[in-house]
Amino acid sequence: MTTQIAALDIEKVRSDFPILQRQVNGKPLVYLDSAATAQKPAVVIDAIADYYRRINANVHRGVHRLSQDATEAFEGARGKIRKFLNARSDKEIIFTGGTTDGINLVSQSYARSVLTADDEVLITHLEHHSNIVPWQIVCEQTGATLKVIPIDDKGQLEMSALDELLTPQTRIVALNHISNALGTINPVKEITARAREVDAVVVIDGAQAAPHMAIDVQDIDCDFYAISAHKMYGPTGIGALYGKEALLKNMPPYRGGGDMILMVSFDKTIYNDLPYKFEAGTPNIAGAVGMGAAVDYLTDLGLDAVAAYEHELLAYGTKALSELPGLRMIGTADNKAGVLGFVLDYAHPHDVGTILDQMGIAVRTGHHCAQPVMDRYDVAATIRASLGVYNTREDIDVLVAGISKVHEVFG
Ligand code: ALA
Repeated sequence: MTTQIAALDIEKVRSDFPILQRQVNGKPLVYLDSAATAQKPAVVIDAIADYYRRINANVHRGVHRLSQDATEAFEGARGKIRKFLNARSDKEIIFTGGTTDGINLVSQSYARSVLTADDEVLITHLEHHSNIVPWQIVCEQTGATLKVIPIDDKGQLEMSALDELLTPQTRIVALNHISNALGTINPVKEITARAREVDAVVVIDGAQAAPHMAIDVQDIDCDFYAISAHKMYGPTGIGALYGKEALLKNMPPYRGGGDMILMVSFDKTIYNDLPYKFEAGTPNIAGAVGMGAAVDYLTDLGLDAVAAYEHELLAYGTKALSELPGLRMIGTADNKAGVLGFVLDYAHPHDVGTILDQMGIAVRTGHHCAQPVMDRYDVAATIRASLGVYNTREDIDVLVAGISKVHEVFG
């Protein structure tokens, strides 16, 4: 029997996800890897299948019925995402391949065109590689300097370091809303306000936040906010970038091709209006439709109910794991989302992951594309159980039993 916590009907939620019926190695699947990618509810799978069965055509290109229907479905999804993020206009929502693609768009279009050798880009020690490497590349291209906000032992940003790190040379501040490796929820609104004092532009990697909490880009007042559908119970290969219209308008295109132009001749090309200027080529139409369905699904559950449910589950899991001998939690921020990262002093994370898999438990082991975070804790890898709306206290109990089994083998 699963437990009812907060305002989610967890039995109903679980029944929405067909994959949870699967057995893995003869055991019921316990999926604790939603930070890597979340499972998909039937409504998302069905929306994609329905699009291909009934509608499939290219968008913005045909007068025929199917093309109009495809355009309507595609643009409808954009409108849902605008509402989900509380952007002002659909022009501020650009479809991307995902968060990584969105950050690369900002770094190669915006940053590359404004940065000089005198400028600084400020990131944090908590970033995923996708919010480090694009900034290293653009700093190399422009001569700008990359600086890093340090973290404390709990995995929280050292806010006092901002006094020194934010300077009149800071042109861009890029950080995640929630750390994928540690679960730390960063004070993005406060950091944006501080960045404004030096007129820096703020770029937020929202990949781990969008599935777990209500996002309001106007309230945060950030300039860019990037998300991925697949972390939000939607399909892979599609995401969205929010950007303030005034900035997007003046940015050069990121990629050239069809649909991003108004007129092409060999002498001159006139680029399309927003948001199409940044959407060259046939887009991932079915992906957008699936992302729209995922946004509907999350909105129907209610982001506040999701956050409250996962918060209770995180507290339950943190207590249960912390009581285990030889286990050290990695990432203990006061304000945290559903990530349980840890190491065992008697077994390597990869061995732990393999034994847990034998028991049908899916966790991620490794550096989680956040090697600087691992370096900060002097570990090469952690075991990470990350929560989604379909997880239960019983899932945590199975994980704890699994670790006890690992202890029997290695302890
Ligand atoms: N960024 C994904 C994770 O944290 C892949 O697992």
